[in-house]
Formats: sequence, structure tokens, C-alpha cells
Amino acid sequence: MKDKTVAKTKVFLKSFGCQMNVRDAEVIAGLMKKAGYSLTDDEAKADVVIFVTCSVRQHAEDKVWSEIGRIAKQNRAGTVPIIGLVGCMAQNYQQQVFERSPAVDFCVGPADIAQIPDIVTKIFAHRKSAGRGGLLDMKIWETDGSVRPEEIYHTGFYEEKDHAYVVISEGCSNFCTYCIVPFVRGPVRHRHAEDILLEVKEAVAGGITRFTLLGQNVSSYHSPEPMKGKPVDFVDLLMAVSNISGLKEVGFITSHPRDTTVRLFEAMASCDTVKKYLHLPVQSGSDRILAAMNRGYTRAGYVHLAKEYRRIVKGGLLSTDIIVGFPGEADDDFQATHDLVRDIGFDTGYIFKYSPRPNTKACMLADDVAQGEKVRRHKVILDLQKSISKSRKRSVA
Ligand code: SAH
Ligand code: SF4
Ligand code: F3S
Repeated sequence: MKDKTVAKTKVFLKSFGCQMNVRDAEVIAGLMKKAGYSLTDDEAKADVVIFVTCSVRQHAEDKVWSEIGRIAKQNRAGTVPIIGLVGCMAQNYQQQVFERSPAVDFCVGPADIAQIPDIVTKIFAHRKSAGRGGLLDMKIWETDGSVRPEEIYHTGFYEEKDHAYVVISEGCSNFCTYCIVPFVRGPVRHRHAEDILLEVKEAVAGGITRFTLLGQNVSSYHSPEPMKGKPVDFVDLLMAVSNISGLKEVGFITSHPRDTTVRLFEAMASCDTVKKYLHLPVQSGSDRILAAMNRGYTRAGYVHLAKEYRRIVKGGLLSTDIIVGFPGEADDDFQATHDLVRDIGFDTGYIFKYSPRPNTKACMLADDVAQGEKVRRHKVILDLQKSISKSRKRSVA
């Protein structure tokens, strides 16, 4: 395509799921801009619509299928937009995406997002050569790569004016038995500490002062290469980022209780620029269920960690994730979760109903907590957490 045509081509991006996808959408936006395309906030005017998708629960996928269906049905005056499905669902469904939803033109897994500008250009060229009423159904899929080129993190494009997400590790090798992430995002890869620091410095130079470091399990971070001859773990990285001149705040998500240490809390407490917020997903209060989930810690271990956090990081906020209705969750397992939520008093809790995911170990187990019972347990914990959140907010205010 000629440069002018490219510049007139408007791209709309929408992300679903976790912050990793918020950042991936931003990276794709940056790559599209670099290739000369324009971005738009108005889906109705877009020539290219890209969904950055999530597979973590069935519900997350259902939302995306229905959005694609809605766009495909739209009766637009001009041409139909190019529709791309990228991210975790692309990896989960691969070529089946095109059978499931014929309106999709391209499908790109998380490792291959760098290919997107070229793919879009190819599809436009094909549409043009096919002409009006010609064959529009060029389908492209890329889900094979395993390493993202470092350059994609340096497009200089950030959605927010004064905050940036910075990926420190991709993928996950923990294999919690309910979770699809290791299958769709691949094994854990840590970015080099020097590359991460460079990205933050570049963003600070561009006027951004607040940062959130991202990884499925930030606590297990270690740089593949030492820095100035010394190995770099998560606490070292956090300290190095927090000391960058011009930076006002740095936070991080997600911490895994198995790898989170008192040393991290001491670092958080000692450093003014580190945000006093810890997202520490507990998932369940029952030791039996925690073992079946392969989480690698016990209820007592978690409670100890939460207490140490509150003791060391004075006034720090604590949030969590909880799954109700995991296979085999009996009344007393659920009660244990309920009591843990009541006793710890999280500032915020994200409560989910268990959703069986393909390839996972838990998916082989009978999904034996009835839907109605999952709904009831979900509501019980949600109501309890809501009242705790309310009273904690009041006591902080
Ligand atoms: N890496 C993070 C979480 C990633 S997924 C961690 O280890 O905590 C975000 C949350 O989705 C999880 O914490 C979990 O509570 C929930 N989740 C993941 N898989 C799920 C499933 N199959 N059903 C219901 N909730 C799930
Ligand atoms: Fe999923 Fe567990 Fe990895 Fe989190 S740590 S992404 S829950 S496998
Ligand atoms: Fe969803 Fe993929 Fe994140 S499955 S939770 S978008 S890593």
C-alpha cells in the first residue's frame, strides 16, 4: 500500500482479560503506528478491528465471540473492516478460529504480535487485487513463534499519559491445575534486567512517571544475564527501577505466594517510590484444594505471609483472587475459604467461579460442584468481601 493510504487506514484495538493484554494491545498499537497506520477510538469508523483476547474462563471467550458476531452483522456503507483475533484465544483455537467465526481475517498468537502490521498490509493488498466482489477470504494465522523480539517493547507508544505497564516476564511455567495460561502463553521467559531498565528510562524521558511491572509471577523473576556482574532477582530489579531518576511510583502484579518473601516486604517498606500495594492471589483457604490446585503453599503459609506484609509494609493494601467451585470443593473446603477471607480482611478481592479449561489437569476431573452451588458460593464470598472492602475503606479514609 502507498504511504498515504496506510495513513488513512484506521485501526481500532480492544483488549480483554489481564493487564498483560492491556500492554499487548498498546504494543500492537505502537507497531501499527510505526508502520504508518492511524489509530481510532471509534470502532464504527475503523478499517481494521483487532481483539486482544483472553481464554482464562469460558465467559471471557464468550464475550469475544459475541463481539465478533456483532461486527460481522453490521451493515456498513463502505467495506467490511479487517478483523483480527490475537492473544490467548488465538493460541487456544489456532486455525479453528476461522471455522468458528468466518468473519475473522487473521489470527495471531501472543508470541507473534510483531507480525501484525505485515499481515494487515498483506490482507489489504489481497483485497485490492481481488477487487470488489472478488475473493475476500484470505485467512492468515501465526501462532508458532516462541520468542518476542525485544524491539517491540520500545515503540514509545503508551496509552496513558502518566502511567506505563512494563512486561518483565512472559508466559508461565507454574501449571496451577485449573489454569490455561501456561498453554496459551508458553513457558516463562524473563526479560533482561538491562532491557527493562532501558524501557523505563525511555518512558521517563518521554514524561511518564508511574509504572507497573507485569508478569504472571513477578516474585520468581530473575534476569537471564547478570548486571554489572551480579545476578538480578525481583527485589533487585524493583529497587533498580525505583531508583531511576524522575520516576515517582512503581508497582507490580502478580505476586505468587509460593515465591513471595519477607525481603520483598522490607524492600517495599524501605523505598518511597514503591507502591504499597500487593496483589497476592490465595485461590482457596483449604489445604486440600490448594494441593489439588498445585499452588505450592498451605493456608498457614499464606496467612503468615499476609501478616508479615501488614506488619512490615505499614498501611499497605492487600488484594487477592479466589476461585469457588473447584472440582471436589466440599462444604468444609468452602467454609475454610470463607473463614480465611473473613480473618485476613483483604482490601479488594476478585472472586471467580471455576471454569474448566482445555488441556489443564483439572479439566480431567469431574466438574462436580453444581452450577447453582457455584453461583451461591460466589455470592457468599462476594458479599462478605464487599462488606470488608467497605469497612476497610472507611477506616483508611
Ligand atoms: N498469574 C496470576 C493469575 C492469572 S489468571 C496468579 O497466579 O495468580 C487470574 C485469575 O483468574 C487467577 O488468579 C484465578 O483466580 C482466576 N482463574 C484462572 N483460571 C481459572 C479457571 N479455570 N476458572 C476460574 N478462575 C480462574
Ligand atoms: Fe496460571 Fe498459576 Fe501461572 Fe498464575 S501462576 S498464570 S494461576 S499457572
Ligand atoms: Fe487471559 Fe491470557 Fe491474561 S488467558 S488472563 S489474557 S495471560
